[in-house]
Amino acid sequence: MASLNDIRSTFLDYFKRNGHQVVASSPLVPRNDPTLMFTNSGMVQFKNLFLGLEHRDYKRATTAQKCVRAGGKHNDLDNVGYTARHHTFFEMLGNFSFGDYFKEDAIPFAWELITRDFGIDKSRLLATVYHTDDEAHALWKKVGVPEDRIIRIATSDNFWQMGPTGPCGPCTEIFYDHGDHIWGGPPGSADEDGDRFIEIWNVVFMQNEQFADGTMRPLDMQSIDTGMGLERIGALLQGKHDNYDTDLMRALIEASAHASSVDPDGPKNIHHRVIADHLRSCSFLIADGVMPSNEGRGYVLRRIMRRAMRHAHLLGTKDPMMHKLVPALVTQMGQAYPELGRAQALITETLKLEEERFRTTLDRGLKLLEDELAQLPDGQALPGEAAFKLYDTFGFPLDLTQDALREKGRAVDTSGFDAAMDAQKAKARAAWSGSGEAADAAIWFDL
Ligand code: SER
Repeated sequence: MASLNDIRSTFLDYFKRNGHQVVASSPLVPRNDPTLMFTNSGMVQFKNLFLGLEHRDYKRATTAQKCVRAGGKHNDLDNVGYTARHHTFFEMLGNFSFGDYFKEDAIPFAWELITRDFGIDKSRLLATVYHTDDEAHALWKKVGVPEDRIIRIATSDNFWQMGPTGPCGPCTEIFYDHGDHIWGGPPGSADEDGDRFIEIWNVVFMQNEQFADGTMRPLDMQSIDTGMGLERIGALLQGKHDNYDTDLMRALIEASAHASSVDPDGPKNIHHRVIADHLRSCSFLIADGVMPSNEGRGYVLRRIMRRAMRHAHLLGTKDPMMHKLVPALVTQMGQAYPELGRAQALITETLKLEEERFRTTLDRGLKLLEDELAQLPDGQALPGEAAFKLYDTFGFPLDLTQDALREKGRAVDTSGFDAAMDAQKAKARAAWSGSGEAADAAIWFDL
């Protein structure tokens, strides 16, 4: 069975053979884009090439890109662990053309790689195209996809945008049909959200630039940006339906099971899954220079860390646990991402310190939460002030509280939470009597 490491190499090798430069993943903190919190797609490091603002000595590239989706437009945090295919951290495999080849090569490349090199059964594949894109439709027909398996989609699902601004364009997506024993309809149908038809590859025809006022301009050159989730294609090629059953994720789940002495497949499996996912995002973020803090990127990291730490606590571990899993992660991914090994000591120390600190308030916070819930009628949301107290006094990020309540089928009154937060900020502003610089300035000028 090909491992995720093998599958990554097969992808990169295929495009290397076809004239693409293998480019290293860019860091998770985008260097060229202040509008983005984290790198969330393979094209981020190439944004300015698509826009014609930057030129490099290659026109074709291929990457395995580290991505985090935990904040901003593409945010998967709340679903992680509970579903088969959500991650805060994942790897996106991609091939890119900067004004070189366009649809006429991108579609045959994708088809050849998945049906020949990956050996996926052709009869299980479907393609979607943007409803007006006759060219893409004809190209799929040409490679041999029957017409009833090429679906025209009129929605934004087949028009990819980076965000409110930036390069964008129509796309074609490749789906795999897992068979009629699994519920779900084909893309575009009423029950498309089922699990039967799974999107495996998105090929974007970059041809426009989107502006904040909603207008668009055609780009000077036509380019290609593709994205295939390694965990997803890995699950498919390993005959699994759940990304967390792939060899790499399984190794992390087993490390969590070992460190906690809790059965990896028992009723507490969900905690191992969350931990395995969050271990990856936290470690890679720290390796790329993000440190836990109370604002911006650092706060997103802290939220993910604390969320994982609550799940470690639910496994019944008495001592900090996350840092013990770092060696397993480095074994799995350190070769493809050498920065992980270089930062191993920092990752270990940061995870350990944060967990030690958080454990001092975690128990008391959870006790407060239990007490609050005991007083509430069944099904009623937790009042915003209680969630705010958990945040302010016990260091519980709001999504941690929401995650804890999810198991009990309850929600948080988030508008009450926001109101409590605003009230506290107003109080802090009213109490602010200046930082002292004004007084210093008066003394200075007197002198
Ligand atoms: N940018 C596209 C995506 O994120 C293809 O890579 O899906």
